[in-house]
Amino acid sequence: MRPLWIGPLTLETVTVPIRHLPARLEGCRVAQLSDFHYDGLRLPTPLLEAAIALVNQLEVDLVALTGDYVTHDAAPIFGLAAQLSHIRSRYGTVAVLGNHDNIRLGSRHTILGELNRAGIQALWNQVTYPLGEDFPIVGLADFWSRDFAPRSIFQALSSTVPRLVLSHNPDSAAALTPWRVDLQLSGHTHGGQIRLPGVGPLPALTQSLRHSVWSKLPLPSRYRRCAKIVHHWEWAAGLHAVGSNRVYVNRGLGTYAPGRFRCPPEVTLLTLVQA
Ligand SMILES: [Fe+2]
Repeated sequence: MRPLWIGPLTLETVTVPIRHLPARLEGCRVAQLSDFHYDGLRLPTPLLEAAIALVNQLEVDLVALTGDYVTHDAAPIFGLAAQLSHIRSRYGTVAVLGNHDNIRLGSRHTILGELNRAGIQALWNQVTYPLGEDFPIVGLADFWSRDFAPRSIFQALSSTVPRLVLSHNPDSAAALTPWRVDLQLSGHTHGGQIRLPGVGPLPALTQSLRHSVWSKLPLPSRYRRCAKIVHHWEWAAGLHAVGSNRVYVNRGLGTYAPGRFRCPPEVTLLTLVQA
């Protein structure tokens, strides 16, 4: 089933102050893409090509991919990784996986392997240093997987060192508050896909009504499932403070039925500056 409405590809720009940001990284520009769901139904190839072309046009320093490359079957990763190999930036592309990349047995290894073959540093509880030893990039296992285990990773990093964290599910931001996270990049929510004026994401509304009139609402069952996607719908999109940490949530490129309303697919351009 094709979505009824997707909306135009949108570039979101945000500036993020970072404490102890190395002087040479002042103004460092990072592009983020998320939630591809490249399965022949949820992401039209022209939209994917447009997003990659936009990222290349931005001439950024680094590109971050925050998961859900496929929806169920891992096979589309072969075509998607070939497309993603065309992404250009100064220091390369880093990536983490989402819950949909870890649904079927073996999917995770197939997707990690194919992304790495495409020249993308795909991380699963790993740290990489494409921007230098004084600015680590942490790529966490998906929050819903058994492997989500940030403690040992963060304990190995000096608290005086700023870091960028890639974690598909923004709910993980609450679990990461014991540690320093200067900027977490997430996706997963698709922004809620349907955003009502004055209300925000429709799934947030249905979640809040679940214990009152929720069961009586004449809405399709998919909206009941939406309420379970995240606990923190207040972080459905954009930049948010979580304690002394920050999380940015990208609305994604792929779209589930019935489509998007006031929630277009997104390319993000984040500029890091010294706090
Ligand atoms: Fe997704």
